[in-house]
Amino acid sequence: MDKSHQTKAFRRERVRVGVVGVGGFGRSHLGAVESLASAGRAHLVAVADPFREQHVELDSRLSAQGVAWHSTLEEMLEKETLDAITIATPVPLHFGMTRRAVEKGVFVYLEKPPVPLLSQLDEMIAWDEDFRVAVGFQLIYSEPIRFLKQAILDGKLGTVRSIRGGAAAPRRQSYYNRASWAGRMSINGEPVFDGPMTNALAHVLQNILFLGGGDAWSFARPTSLRGELYRCYPVESFDTSCVRGVLDTGVEFAFAGSHAVRDESPHTLEVVGTRGTLRLTGGTFSSDIPGLELPQHAGSDVPMLASVSRFMDYVCGQPETDIIRLEDTRGFVETTNGTLVSSRGIFPLDARFVESYQVEGDPGLDVLGLGDLITQTITTGRLFSENSAPWANRTPTVTREEIQSAVLEEWIFGAEENPKNATACL
Ligand SMILES: NC(=O)c1ccc[n+]([C@@H]2O[C@H](COP(=O)([O-])OP(=O)(O)OC[C@H]3O[C@@H](n4cnc5c(N)ncnc54)[C@H](O)[C@@H]3O)[C@@H](O)[C@H]2O)c1
Repeated sequence: MDKSHQTKAFRRERVRVGVVGVGGFGRSHLGAVESLASAGRAHLVAVADPFREQHVELDSRLSAQGVAWHSTLEEMLEKETLDAITIATPVPLHFGMTRRAVEKGVFVYLEKPPVPLLSQLDEMIAWDEDFRVAVGFQLIYSEPIRFLKQAILDGKLGTVRSIRGGAAAPRRQSYYNRASWAGRMSINGEPVFDGPMTNALAHVLQNILFLGGGDAWSFARPTSLRGELYRCYPVESFDTSCVRGVLDTGVEFAFAGSHAVRDESPHTLEVVGTRGTLRLTGGTFSSDIPGLELPQHAGSDVPMLASVSRFMDYVCGQPETDIIRLEDTRGFVETTNGTLVSSRGIFPLDARFVESYQVEGDPGLDVLGLGDLITQTITTGRLFSENSAPWANRTPTVTREEIQSAVLEEWIFGAEENPKNATACL
């Protein structure tokens, strides 16, 4: 990859940073930037968030430090001199905000998922010609993922045949009520495509693509895939998903994840090679590979700080820094978009297979047997329909070319008219 941004970058010890979005996950961005500011590597100049009144304590703390608060990104870019911003705002805002910052010559640490649609990502890659954008898939920098990648590169698994992952991540109605864009396919004419594969469990999918990439810092892309998307919550988008396919490195991959489950199962990754299997469940490794030494305390590091810190190094003119560029997320967006194409939209899940439950008055939905089906996808690579889920639909294989030429607008913007079949369950 051409790293020509160095020619246009400055060499600065302390990066002048603005944080866009300070509630929700933006608080982690703020924490990382403040840590780097304490270490003398960043200068937190300003934040931008329209809901200042909701953050009284933070507002007074930042004011005392001389950090300006703007209600919009536009105002912040106009009034402040910034080298970089971080963006942790609702997904439908990512595209426009990133463009405005890049047009101003500002570097961007953009939260995952970068954008919902492949057509948007292509546009961004085209206008980010100086490689100013990094995407915040911070778990790539975590010790367990680094260990897995290194074990693969060192040949400890032999030839890798298959990489599979997923999780059961219960979310109840309050999750969908928390934000106007939650569970939406589009909002105010902007694509959202919010669901477990594209949002809460996006890391698992991007980790699979990273582990499937042939080199130390490469992210695989699917050459073909089959996927299934379902909805049982009364939302436009999906809450249950699975996909399997082949990567351009020849490795098979599979992912399964849902919010419509009562019981949680942690992020799991399983890498199958000719010498055996290496598995990461939550923070715990297991393997049947003879003599393979496994780390004991996986997951105790702070990948968020590592991720933002690398971004600051990059901004400071160290182009060899391993940041996740927009291009490195192409396989991710191809997979999510391809899953929608293969699934031909989002299927309402038959309410006969869904039970409702409550936790402190917060209603949730549980698809019967789905926890086991997710485990089966991780251990066998088979889709829900191939594991005989009575509610599942068989879907066709789509190639990368078909994904690239697919028109998704009908599913993204026509979603409001979809039946909300399981509303009665809640
Ligand atoms: N990397 C991770 O582990 C991780 C975890 C959770 C969420 N995320 C990502 O973080 C992003 C934000 O998710 P969230 O759930 O925190 O969203 P959210 O809806 O809670 O919004 C985050 C913040 O953005 C602010 N905001 C809204 N409109 C804005 C605007 N026009 N300008 C500036 N700020 C604005 C909101 O006021 C809020 O403070 C998403 O991309 C999500 O996928 C990442």
